[in-house]
Amino acid sequence: MASDIISTGLATHPLRGEITVPGDKSISHRVAILGGLASGTTCVRNYLCSADCLNTLRAMQQLGAIVSPTAHGADFSITGTGMRPVAPTADIDCGNSGTGMRLLAGVLSALPFSSRMVGDESLSRRPMRRVITPLNQMGACIRACGREEGCAPLGITGGTLHSIHYILPMASAQVKSAVLLAGLFADGETRVEQPAVTRDHTERLLRHFGVPCEETASHLSVAVRGRAHLKARDIEVPSDFSSAAFWLVAGSIVPWSELTLRGVGLNPTRTALLHVLRRMGAQIQVSNERGECEPMGDITVRYAPQLQGTEILPGEIPNLIDEVPILAVAAAHAQGDTTIRNAAELRVKESDRISTVVHNLQAMGAQVQEHDDGMVITGGVALTGATLDSYTDHRIAMSFLIAGLCAAGKTTLLRCGNIETSYPGFENHLLQLTR
Ligand code: S3P
Repeated sequence: MASDIISTGLATHPLRGEITVPGDKSISHRVAILGGLASGTTCVRNYLCSADCLNTLRAMQQLGAIVSPTAHGADFSITGTGMRPVAPTADIDCGNSGTGMRLLAGVLSALPFSSRMVGDESLSRRPMRRVITPLNQMGACIRACGREEGCAPLGITGGTLHSIHYILPMASAQVKSAVLLAGLFADGETRVEQPAVTRDHTERLLRHFGVPCEETASHLSVAVRGRAHLKARDIEVPSDFSSAAFWLVAGSIVPWSELTLRGVGLNPTRTALLHVLRRMGAQIQVSNERGECEPMGDITVRYAPQLQGTEILPGEIPNLIDEVPILAVAAAHAQGDTTIRNAAELRVKESDRISTVVHNLQAMGAQVQEHDDGMVITGGVALTGATLDSYTDHRIAMSFLIAGLCAAGKTTLLRCGNIETSYPGFENHLLQLTR
């Protein structure tokens, strides 16, 4: 369990060594769901054993999937229900995870029973209307029963669904995936059109499990046919690029660092940060590329003394949305302006990541201007250590612990126990690389 208060200080040594960050969060959620729906047994390697993903695995067990060994480690097998889940006997607890709740909503919508999904305080404030609207259009009956409008707990009465052609109002892989998962059970073709390309793990994994998933050349329109049957097939989850991102930035800004990250997921819908950092002058090499369903490889990063600010393009935003907090830390170390706009979705993540990033960077002395849909950071001002709130948001906690490595004095992060949500072992890696 990560401590709730962690401090870092100005790094007195370069970061050096090799690490393997834990499995990919987005892929792990989907492997649990699809493995739990498939016919047969899927052997899973390198699953992310974080609270979020274990909640999704537990949810699939509540729906009748069998997981072995039962004490969850990163490697296990899951025997699915062959598209015939059973009614859960208790609430499904999604903890802190928007991905878990939204994707499972897609599945539960199609099942002939009532169920209820609950989440922690942060998840109970996040918008669920975005999945409720299309799933109810397909014939489900989902009620948002939370204190705030459109928020969890969700009461779901599922049943026979009909297919839809849904135009996503926002670029969201979670909403796209919820509709596609519901579409697996519906009659006919379910098509989703997205305003920008979002992560495509659901589509890749569906194909891996033997379900055709058609895409236009632009990847903006995706379709599945209903009455689908998933066939179990073993899968290795790559390490999470979003977790590797902290070290890509740390290695770039801590003088004379050189470190290698092994087996990192390199799905092009996730790696926009790599291209942005290179554009800023970072020295990052990818080697040993491999992988079948999901590409992966090793990444080496070396200290880059002269990062330059850059403008993030609108089409890049969905493919680095989770990396914006750590990108903002890199931007504070770059000369000139870094502009991050068209990113209003950041306001409805585990915290309002526009306000929490701006607030914490300003507390460290950085020059940042807040906008409704993003921020402009004017880099090159030396940062000073500060006591900061992580707002119980794992990515805010880790980003500002990295910021502390290049700030004069001590940086202390409060309420950061949630680091385990995506990166169990982060504190150990921090110690290992900074020792
Ligand atoms: C995710 C999609 C993104 C991302 C989240 C994981 C997924 O959310 O921010 O951390 O696994 O599909 P949105 O779909 O809300 O953009």
